[in-house]
Amino acid sequence: MRILFVGDVVGRPGRDVVERRLRALRSELEVDFCVLNGENAADGIGITPRLAEQLLQTGVDAITLGNHTWRRSEIAPYLCSSTRVVRPANFPSSAPGSGLAVVAAADGTPVAVINLLGSLYLEPARSLWEVVDELVDEAHRETQVVVVDIHAEATSEKVALASWLDGRVTAVLGTHTHVQTADARVLPGGTAAMTDVGMTGPHDSVIGVVTDLAIQRMRTGMPVRFETARGGVRLEGALVECDAATGRATAIAPVRTE
Ligand SMILES: [Fe+2]
Repeated sequence: MRILFVGDVVGRPGRDVVERRLRALRSELEVDFCVLNGENAADGIGITPRLAEQLLQTGVDAITLGNHTWRRSEIAPYLCSSTRVVRPANFPSSAPGSGLAVVAAADGTPVAVINLLGSLYLEPARSLWEVVDELVDEAHRETQVVVVDIHAEATSEKVALASWLDGRVTAVLGTHTHVQTADARVLPGGTAAMTDVGMTGPHDSVIGVVTDLAIQRMRTGMPVRFETARGGVRLEGALVECDAATGRATAIAPVRTE
């Protein structure tokens, strides 16, 4: 089976390209299951229930989030009832929602989606290493096809996690840094890995933000109100091929529309 992971969707430009392109891309790439990182969907930061529902209508099966999960507070009650939108599993154990969802693919195969937050700069309540093994065991009680979104700043954390989970999950895919990396590979145990699947949004920007505003904040150290950029929009992500029975990955390739 084929799983498409769509990299961080940024603001309206990102949502629009998903709406315009995703259904055709799904059929062109013969995709059975599609996961999307949506933590920047609402004007570059956070996500609302309405936007999550809109994205789920475009051919997305599950949505992962990240460090900006709570920027739009109305998402909290929605996450309590959603079976297809997950937030990082290593948030405080009292946080609304779940870090694991199991959703049926087009061919009926259950696919588990796990969302984790890295430590560097993001300071999760608990280290991902404290929760990951139990989560994978929980996923395996329902399916062997397991996709992990590691939302993290540091390449080292993402690479280490992929190695730790090699042979136990289908894919370990990185999000948050918004720059697609050239390291898509299947590890020896059958886990597909990629440090960052890229950004779905405006690439004529500083990782989605209007270039001049991002530079102004960095140069002056003063507060500057960020705006989502508009130019150079494309959809980026990764396509993973795996055996539906064993969950072992056989191939991974970057996806990048123009
Ligand atoms: Fe993030």
